[in-house]
Amino acid sequence: MTEQTLIIVKPDAVKRNLVGEILSRFETKGFCILKLKMLNFTAEMAEQFYAAHNSKPFFSELVSFITSGKVVAAIIEGDNVINVTREIIGKTNPKEANSGTIRGDYGIGILENSIHASDSKESFDKEVNIIF
Ligand code: CMP
Repeated sequence: MTEQTLIIVKPDAVKRNLVGEILSRFETKGFCILKLKMLNFTAEMAEQFYAAHNSKPFFSELVSFITSGKVVAAIIEGDNVINVTREIIGKTNPKEANSGTIRGDYGIGILENSIHASDSKESFDKEVNIIF
């Protein structure tokens, strides 16, 4: 089924000039980039974007990190793109993510894990409205 997802290349990866390398993995897989945007999260946007985590002990660190530099957001389209993207990016913690996944190859730590992707259609609908 053709669907869409949102990815965010996070500040740690933008700072290390990994935007092209990361986006190319989705194009190589046959997915289309429908929209692309470089932006800085404001604290308000970050709190909304990560609202599901607002009771977690790492919430303030998460907001500080995602607002610490430029990010690149993209809407990606293709068959089963939500689930396939989760495989392409790998597990949340880069230490547990397989080699060949984006987080496995480039993630620095659980916070600076290089990329975010929507985990469901519901998350995509909410997240895309905050970013685009
Ligand atoms: P992301 O996919 O952007 O969604 C929420 C983020 O919270 C996640 O990636 C991680 O970067 C971060 N995160 C999850 N668990 C922890 C943790 N235990 N400590 C710090 N950050 C975390």
